Amino acid sequence: MADLRTSQRYWSGGGNKYLAELESLNGVPPDGKAPSHAPAFMRELREVTFSEFKKRVDSYDREFTESMFAGDAYIIRGVVPEDKLRRLRKELHEWGKTVEPSFHKVQDGIPNFHRIITPDIVKKYALKYPRHDYYFFRHNPDPFGVWPMINEFWSYTKKWGGFDPDECVRNIPSDGLVDRIVVAHYPAGIGYIERHQDPWGHQRTIMSIQMTQLDVDFRSGGLYFIDQQGREVTSEGRTRVGDAVINYPTVTHGVNPVDMDTLNPDWSSMKGRWFFGLYTMETDCLVHARHTGNPA
Ligand SMILES: [Fe+2]
Repeated sequence: MADLRTSQRYWSGGGNKYLAELESLNGVPPDGKAPSHAPAFMRELREVTFSEFKKRVDSYDREFTESMFAGDAYIIRGVVPEDKLRRLRKELHEWGKTVEPSFHKVQDGIPNFHRIITPDIVKKYALKYPRHDYYFFRHNPDPFGVWPMINEFWSYTKKWGGFDPDECVRNIPSDGLVDRIVVAHYPAGIGYIERHQDPWGHQRTIMSIQMTQLDVDFRSGGLYFIDQQGREVTSEGRTRVGDAVINYPTVTHGVNPVDMDTLNPDWSSMKGRWFFGLYTMETDCLVHARHTGNPA
């Protein structure tokens, strides 16, 4: 049963008192709204090893917290071994070719599935992002072994954001919030996502783990941030397969069209840019409960 209180943990702060202080400097905005002074632009692109990141989170490091809230994005080195992600990419591509694409509301019993978001489909959306997505939920069997790859990393980003490290991990859709993995393929000559800011309510970092590398797997385009001078700053060329990139959700970013000089772009080709994204999301059960005032 969807518990509306679950969706109202907007202002947890948790153990990260520095983050809670920074976020509440201008008062607490209504539920679901980001702080009015949250960073809209990237200040600097920085790098940290995975072990250093864990140390900084465990100690609720003030400098790191201030840096993230000031708009710095971080490349975190070596979060997942490269060979695992290269194998996963092949396996998912194969799965995508042999199992029909589909779409499902996030309700109890939702399966893992994949979906081809064509330019025709994105016409209906405010934010345009033609790409091929593969979705995974914790309550399902895990034949590709995706959850063990990121469980530790995700628990640290939750902890930094003031949530329990295992927040939502046992949830099912009727609990209101669930963790969802989206492996996204931006096919060569097709894929991009317009510049945007991400939802803030249930996570304080947006997280992508790179599954491809510029000049190895694709030649142009990819992830960028808008800096405080309004310029695009890309992280491509600095990241390797297995590195994570994190930033505060309100920092504006996008993915430039990947390899747009590709002749005869092909949705069924593995070519292009791939990433592994982590999202704590509101389920359709919660949206229904909010609209009706009744449990899902
Ligand atoms: Fe995003």
